[in-house]
Amino acid sequence: MNIIEKIQQTQNITREELEQILTTDDEVTVEALRQAARGVANAIYGNKIYIRGLIEISNYCKNDCLYCGLRRSNPFAVRYRLTDEQIYACCEEGYQLGFRTFVMQGGEDGWFDDKRMCRIVSTVRNRYPDCAITLSLGERSHESYQALYDAGANRYLLRHETASPEHYAKLHPAEMSWQHRMECLCDLKKIGYQVGCGFMVGSPYQTFDTLYADLQFIRKFRPQMVGIGPFISAHDTPFAGQPNGKVSYTLRLLAIIRLLQPPVLLPATTALGTLHPQGRELGIQYGANVLMPNLSPTEHRKDYAIYDGKICTGEESAQCKVCTEQRIRKIGYEMVVDRGDYKAEEFKC
Ligand code: SAM
Ligand code: SF4
Ligand code: FES
Repeated sequence: MNIIEKIQQTQNITREELEQILTTDDEVTVEALRQAARGVANAIYGNKIYIRGLIEISNYCKNDCLYCGLRRSNPFAVRYRLTDEQIYACCEEGYQLGFRTFVMQGGEDGWFDDKRMCRIVSTVRNRYPDCAITLSLGERSHESYQALYDAGANRYLLRHETASPEHYAKLHPAEMSWQHRMECLCDLKKIGYQVGCGFMVGSPYQTFDTLYADLQFIRKFRPQMVGIGPFISAHDTPFAGQPNGKVSYTLRLLAIIRLLQPPVLLPATTALGTLHPQGRELGIQYGANVLMPNLSPTEHRKDYAIYDGKICTGEESAQCKVCTEQRIRKIGYEMVVDRGDYKAEEFKC
């Protein structure tokens, strides 16, 4: 049994195997990994790729993550927040374009308190009962997550960022806690959300040990979604000038995650598309099955500048949708417009 077959059969990987797969120059091994991951995705989801409409509702943030261009200490960030009506207009445009999942993402912005956010979620829920509502608004209290769930949200994306508390402390200021982030993830799962965790590939101070811990955390937590993309340095942050994450590592990790948890919903991220012109297509070929085109108002897109060089900042929503569809079709896959729910038993925290 070769290394790829072993990972596939055991749905596990050792620290040494991880390093070997990430660093190998052997194209035969990499191609075997890619084919195994794509085969597993095909067996569960066929050639279907789910699309989610991303609405970036605010770039105000009270946090100071060292890697992010939206961190509160970046005085050059041009701040904006969408009004309720602007958010509804994005959803309506998205619905007309065929989206059946809306992802509302933003910095940790106190303006979007529970009252305001619940009002928005319940309005979208009532207007589009056939759609999934995904939130990605960072760390909130258990009561807040519960209220948003009761208002109609179904899914929550909260990357764990790193499974190593020591690594977490090098990426975040002292007031942010790894423990709290983990508690948030457990709260979300207990409440009943479909939960997405994830991490940046190639973030400063990341090692094979921390990546191994990330994969073991995913195996244990069994999220419905895993969002990974390369770290990309952002100017005016403490990590400006740090090397970007590797596309090759990101693709191989996508494939490994597909093998470790076959039914997982796995996006080929915008960050991957930013570092490589065919990054998202390659992501699909390595086992990803979700794309998240941007539905935000074009006039604000360039200001949601998490990292440098982000793609899709000048386009209209319709352009991104058509572009996404064409990219998917060109490599032999089919875009599906249903909600694209997780296809396996639910796991408890
Ligand atoms: N504020 C929420 C949070 O942090 O969970 C949601 C928005 S935040 C911008 C979404 C994700 O962007 C983070 O979880 C992080 O992994 C990613 N991100 C931030 N800065 C990045 C960078 N420089 N390169 C790549 N990804 C980055
Ligand atoms: Fe804020 Fe999220 Fe950026 Fe951290 S990653 S500074 S929480 S927007
Ligand atoms: Fe936005 Fe291609 S997905 S322009």
